[in-house]
Amino acid sequence: MATLAGGVAVITGAGSGIGEALARLAAKTGMQVVLADVATARIDAVAAQIVADGGTALAVTADVSDPASMDALAATTRDAFGDVRLLVNNAGVETLGFAWELSAEDWARTLGVNIQGVVNGVRAFAPAMIAAGEQAFIANTASVGALGIMPVQTPYIMSKHAVLAFSECLRLEMELKQAPISVSVVLPGPVHTRIFTDSLGAGDAVSQYHRQQMEGMLAANGISSAEAASRILPQVAAGDFWVSTDAEMTRAYAAGRAQALLDLQPPALAPELAASLQAE
Ligand SMILES: NC(=O)c1ccc[n+]([C@@H]2O[C@H](COP(=O)([O-])OP(=O)(O)OC[C@H]3O[C@@H](n4cnc5c(N)ncnc54)[C@H](O)[C@@H]3O)[C@@H](O)[C@H]2O)c1
Repeated sequence: MATLAGGVAVITGAGSGIGEALARLAAKTGMQVVLADVATARIDAVAAQIVADGGTALAVTADVSDPASMDALAATTRDAFGDVRLLVNNAGVETLGFAWELSAEDWARTLGVNIQGVVNGVRAFAPAMIAAGEQAFIANTASVGALGIMPVQTPYIMSKHAVLAFSECLRLEMELKQAPISVSVVLPGPVHTRIFTDSLGAGDAVSQYHRQQMEGMLAANGISSAEAASRILPQVAAGDFWVSTDAEMTRAYAAGRAQALLDLQPPALAPELAASLQAE
């Protein structure tokens, strides 16, 4: 964490959940923190609290799905604080529904935020980070879902597989260029946040039921956002590629996926999931 102290952090989706907790922890670690989110009132409130606690924070309204908005975020950050040491492309939305029933808008929004948002963050910030020539860090938030499959979460799961593949290739590109930028992919397990409550879609009974189940699961089994941040940030600072909130769960998902691919298993519903969703 000492490598982060004194540097500048930019965290997207910092108005809630994991992003908010990462922003608070980065500030506590001695970073100057830029909080970016579409939820202006929430980032304003969090930034004000960080400053009241003696930290340095700036709230900037930004939509990660909009390249111009991310370029503006990069310019505002540079003007305010200079070079960026840590970029966390954390903003994400959950979307529930059958693939063919979700609206074109919900599809575009999900892929726009979850995939293009990460790409836009890298396009806006990486050139200056590389040019600065200093050790810096880019962390892209996927999910353990990047190593799994799940019906009625298709746009979300698809987007997280994409973030994982993007991050793997980005790590190789940094190596190819011998750039001092460490790339990490964050694969959180359950964290108790508003993500399912705010989810898009959920217009059908099965998805509504699934949303309820997932909200209950996060409330019962999810760790707090603060705990998640305290596990995530040291791994990013250490330069780890695979960053988990629950290393055992990540390994179990990876092993399950690897075995399914090795065996060329066709996708099949786990019996408990089928019973639960088909009961609806
Ligand atoms: N909570 C979990 O269990 C969990 C598990 C795995 C992965 N994740 C991932 O972690 C990340 C954070 O999720 P969370 O659970 O803290 O969710 P959250 O809903 O609490 O916070 C997400 C934040 O992103 C912001 N946001 C949404 N669209 C945006 C946009 N276009 N531009 C900028 N900001 C935008 C929201 O306003 C919100 O403040 C997401 O990428 C999510 O997919 C979460």
